[in-house]
Amino acid sequence: MTEIARDDEFEHALDNWVLAAFARGVRSFPELVAALPGAYPTDIARTVYRLRGSVPPDWHDSSPVSVSRAVSPAGWPVEHPLDFDWRFTAHAAALLLDRCGTGVPLVFLGAPSLSREAARRGRRSGVTLVDRNPVIVTAVRESCPGFVAVCTDLVRGEPVMVGDAALAVADPPWYPEHTAAFLWAAARLTRVGGQVLLSLPPEGTRPGISSERVDAVSSATSFGLRLVGIEPRALAYSMPPFEHNALVAAGLTTVPNDWRHGDLATFTVVQRTVERRPCAPGESDDWDEEAVGSVRIKCRKCSADEFRDPTLSGLVTGDMLTSVSRRDPARAAVDVWTSGNRVYRCPGSAIFRVILHCLAREQDPERAVSEALARGLNEVETTLVRRAAGQAVELVQREEWELAEYGHRRQERDLVETV
Ligand SMILES: C[S@@+](CC[C@H](N)C(=O)[O-])C[C@H]1O[C@@H](n2cnc3c(N)ncnc32)[C@H](O)[C@@H]1O
Repeated sequence: MTEIARDDEFEHALDNWVLAAFARGVRSFPELVAALPGAYPTDIARTVYRLRGSVPPDWHDSSPVSVSRAVSPAGWPVEHPLDFDWRFTAHAAALLLDRCGTGVPLVFLGAPSLSREAARRGRRSGVTLVDRNPVIVTAVRESCPGFVAVCTDLVRGEPVMVGDAALAVADPPWYPEHTAAFLWAAARLTRVGGQVLLSLPPEGTRPGISSERVDAVSSATSFGLRLVGIEPRALAYSMPPFEHNALVAAGLTTVPNDWRHGDLATFTVVQRTVERRPCAPGESDDWDEEAVGSVRIKCRKCSADEFRDPTLSGLVTGDMLTSVSRRDPARAAVDVWTSGNRVYRCPGSAIFRVILHCLAREQDPERAVSEALARGLNEVETTLVRRAAGQAVELVQREEWELAEYGHRRQERDLVETV
């Protein structure tokens, strides 16, 4: 199996952080995850193994399994890894809404939870969400009817118009092209004198993050924003089911639900930007999506004009990616990707999508594939469609069950917290 390339300097930093945490008395894996500046749990586990000669004798390797799992609140679509969707904890959403004060209008870029929190606090208008994910945009339109929810790709879509927001909150995926494009949009949409709040990846996120953070602040400056301050670890995220599955597949079952934190950067808009939106490198990655029950499945875009084998075949051990990083080389070969982080090869991903569409509506997949091709299916094709439909049913049942389990555990945790 291919692996993510390692960076010596970053590995050395991990060693130093872990040794310093041991010296401060940290004695369990969940505590260690919380003590490090945002390092990914599998990076930490690898470091502990590398430093096994220096692990304190009273190190507890088997802390109680965390019962807190993230599942989307009722009615909200479950997170999918291809959206880079990490939702705020209730505490982080409340903190950001407190920072919004009574200002209007407000703009949330890639932060749908804040629309929901604003509605919960009684706002009925004056809030705009901009997000690329049509599923979440629809959920916001349905649950917050007085708000505006715009579905657009802030990196490659139509550039946003000039706006007059009092405050914008931007929570981009933690990659340089997203941060630059979200900052640019925030600067365009906010009035001079207004504020822009941005979630920044902390130092331990991955190699090279320090210089990415410096670049983010210098882009912000070129867009007319002045940095007011950065609050480390101010924003906690709730672990999405796909990350939970990835960590369990990597053998890590005790990672706290809210281990991931962003640093909160605050900017003031000092002048209108005249800069053009930064150009994103590379090509856009295009996927179609179907939801069957609460499970979301993305299929790599390809033509459904001719028949290609729609059955799923294995790509990684256990069909589960153990990482959620964009640097994972296995990602390039994925054709079908579930919200539970299962990945497959599938030469006929467009035909597989037709099958999923039928399953969601309890229609006959063979007839639908035949209609999509505008011809009848031969015997081999019929067998392949039936096999793929069986695989899809099994996959959806499994992930539905997992989501229900997460839901029960989450309710238990909420009960414990309220008692
Ligand atoms: C890190 S998540 C932030 C979610 C936020 N913490 C919340 O709880 O509402 C990133 C968000 O950006 C959205 N997104 C990802 N790529 C985008 C793009 N190119 N343009 C606009 N939105 C994008 C995702 O759909 C997701 O909602």
